[in-house]
Order: sequence, then C-alpha cells, then structure tokens
Amino acid sequence: MTLISQDSTAAQILFSEAKRQQEGLELIPSENYVSPAVLEALAGPFINKYAEGYPGRRYYGGQAYTDAIEALAQERACELFRCEYANVQPLSGANANLAAYSAVLRPGDTVLGMDLSCGGHLTHGHPVTLSAQIYHFVRYGIADVTTGEIDYDALERLAQEHRPRLIIAGYSSYTRPLDYARFVAIAQQVGALTLADVSHLGGLIAGGALPNPLDAGFALLTTTTHKSLRGPRGAMILTRDAALAKQVNKAVFPGLQGGPHMHSIAALAVALGEALQPEFSDYAHQVLANAKAMERAFHTAGVSLVNGGTDNHMLLIDVTQHGIGLTGGQAEQALEGIGLTVNKNITPYDPRGPLDPSGIRLGTPAMTTRGMGEAAAARIAEMITLALRSPADTALQASLRAEVMALCARFPLPTGH
Ligand SMILES: Cc1ncc(COP(=O)(O)O)c(C=O)c1O
Repeated sequence: MTLISQDSTAAQILFSEAKRQQEGLELIPSENYVSPAVLEALAGPFINKYAEGYPGRRYYGGQAYTDAIEALAQERACELFRCEYANVQPLSGANANLAAYSAVLRPGDTVLGMDLSCGGHLTHGHPVTLSAQIYHFVRYGIADVTTGEIDYDALERLAQEHRPRLIIAGYSSYTRPLDYARFVAIAQQVGALTLADVSHLGGLIAGGALPNPLDAGFALLTTTTHKSLRGPRGAMILTRDAALAKQVNKAVFPGLQGGPHMHSIAALAVALGEALQPEFSDYAHQVLANAKAMERAFHTAGVSLVNGGTDNHMLLIDVTQHGIGLTGGQAEQALEGIGLTVNKNITPYDPRGPLDPSGIRLGTPAMTTRGMGEAAAARIAEMITLALRSPADTALQASLRAEVMALCARFPLPTGH
C-alpha cells in the first residue's frame, strides 16, 4: 500500500515539505540534497536489520550483506580521505565527536577547542553539552575580526599553560583556512593528540577542493556525512593509526551506541561511491566558486562579510550593519518570506548572544547541487541584499519571491520532488 493511500495525514506533511524544498532555495551551509540513488538505498531493506558489532564480529545472525555494505562504505571512505581506518557507524556528528573524545580522553582531561562565537561547534566544549561536563574545555578564538585569522601564538600559549590531552581544529561557522600544520606542531610541543572536525568540509575535502587535515598529521578526523558530502544523515571517524582505530571502534560500539543504522550506512556507501566520481570533484570546486561569486556580489553592494570574506562554502554577514539594521532572527525571517532559507548566527564576540544574534550564515552546497553556477549565486546575493535593506517593501518582496520560485523551477531538486 502506498503512503498516500494508507496515511494521507502523514503523506500530506511529507508532500508539503517536498514542495517547500522544491520551491525555495536552501542556503543553510550544512544542508544539501541527496541523489535518487542515495534515497533509494536509504529506503531499502537494511532498515529492517540489527547489526550490533562490526563486519565479521556481530552479535546477531543474518549478517552476510550488512558486512558487505559496511565494508564497502569503509573502503570508499578510506579511499576518499586517504586513510586506513574508518568507523562509519556514528549516528550524527555530535555522537562522532563524543565517541572520539571518549576514545582518547579520561574524564577531567583538558581539551582545546574553538570558541562558539568565533565559529566552533557546540560539541567543541560549550558548557551546555555533556562533553563539557565530562572534560575540561579551554577555548581559543580569532585574533582579528576583520580577517578572521586565528591567533596561533595565543593558541600555543594556551596549550603550554593548560597542557591539553587533545586539540580540536574545526568549525561550524568560520570562513577562513585553518593552518593544520601549525595545530599539529603546537600539539606535538605539549604532547597532545589532534582531532579535526571537518563536518562542514567533508565533501570539499573528498572532492579535492580543500586540504585533508590527515595529510598534515592530524591523528583523528570526524565528519558528518549529510552536509557537503551529500550523503544520508550520519558521521564517520577516520584515522591512519591502528591503535587509535581500535579505541574508536570500542568507543562507538559498545561505548556510546547500540545497533548501527544499516540503511544509513548503505546510503552512505552509495554517496561515497558518488564522491569518488570525477563529477564530484567538479561539484566541490563549484561550491567554492559559487561562494566567491556571492562574496564579490555582496562586496559590490557594500555588504562586507564577517572575517572579510570566505575561502570555503560559507558566508557570514553581520546584519546589524551595512545599511541593513536587522537582528539575525529578523533577517532569517525576511529571507524566508522570499523563499531563501538561511540561519541566524552568532558573529565573533557577538554582543547579542546566540539566541538573538547579530548575524546570518549562508552557504552554497545545496544550490550547487541543483546545478546553479556563479551567475545565479551572484544574483542570489543581490536579492538577499535588496530583501534585507527593504523588508517592509511588500511589492519588492513579492517580486523577489516570484524570482526565487522561477530560479528554483529552472534548477529542480535531483530527486525530482
Ligand atoms: C563542526 C560540526 N561538528 C559537529 C556537528 C554535529 O553534527 P550533527 O548535527 O549531525 O550531530 C556539526 C553540525 O552542525 C558541525 O558543524
């Protein structure tokens, strides 16, 4: 029986969400659209299967094909990220980080992570998280809010003062390159391990558009699989070190999780297969080119970006400035009104705080998946500027909404919804 004939209430909600995605443009940098093949694998037979353990070492019977699909995902992850060991079971990025911490830390150990307001993720030590109750996090920030450069000398001093067991590099809202080699050098000085959380950048690294922190000597790499990597929701922990891999495996299962979501792992194997194709490298490079096109269009319109610009897929704007004069929340709502989805976001050392911040964050992975190039990216930046500078101009808003819908119709979702 089809969903619509069995449960029209639920079907109607799914239909409305599909329409929202088709007729609006997703500019949240952590979102993307999966391919029909990924979706097919996600809705496939592995949804029914328990598979506690790892390939060849399971707690339940009937594992011939779970082993095959998990091994395929592991092999493809290792090929893409040039490493020997991949745990593909974490259910999300937050779980992957907690598992990685518990693999290498004891309660009370000190960790250096990036401050939330400068771009670090909640799981890098924000006091509201469980990790922050278990471990002692010390936060580093950026030195210069006009360029976004991390103060590596201050980071080195913090490392010498606090002697962390682990140093984390990685972020959710930061737009400049990280000096991975410098992180590794600082960690070596104080005998710390290194973890790069590239949750946002996974697809850009896999596609060869950004450097791989493992090549710079990072011990552990965590990444979500559903952002730029364009797979199902989930995460991976990767390493080149056999002993660390063993610790990680134990930490994920049985340490933190029970049965892996084998349908997600199947879909991940398919997504990683896609990421190994040459077209995916083109995609990753286009994501960056589109972000640069948006940056140029914003600068032309007199809207300067937080950190002075972007070198990745993400752009941050302080919307209290630049002739806009809105809060992040108001800007998010104004853009939603014309069919552009962004998220309100804290800016470096934001005086307004995370619940009602000064900024918005936007990004190009999803629009690039729809096939949009630099011309569309530049026009989207212009539309954003117009909409934010005149949020009360209803005629303008209506014409921008119509333009966004027309653009979305020209670039349909890959799944055809
Ligand atoms: C850097 C970073 N780490 C971890 C996470 C957490 O991932 P998830 O939402 O899948 O738990 C995110 C997601 O926003 C992230 O940006």
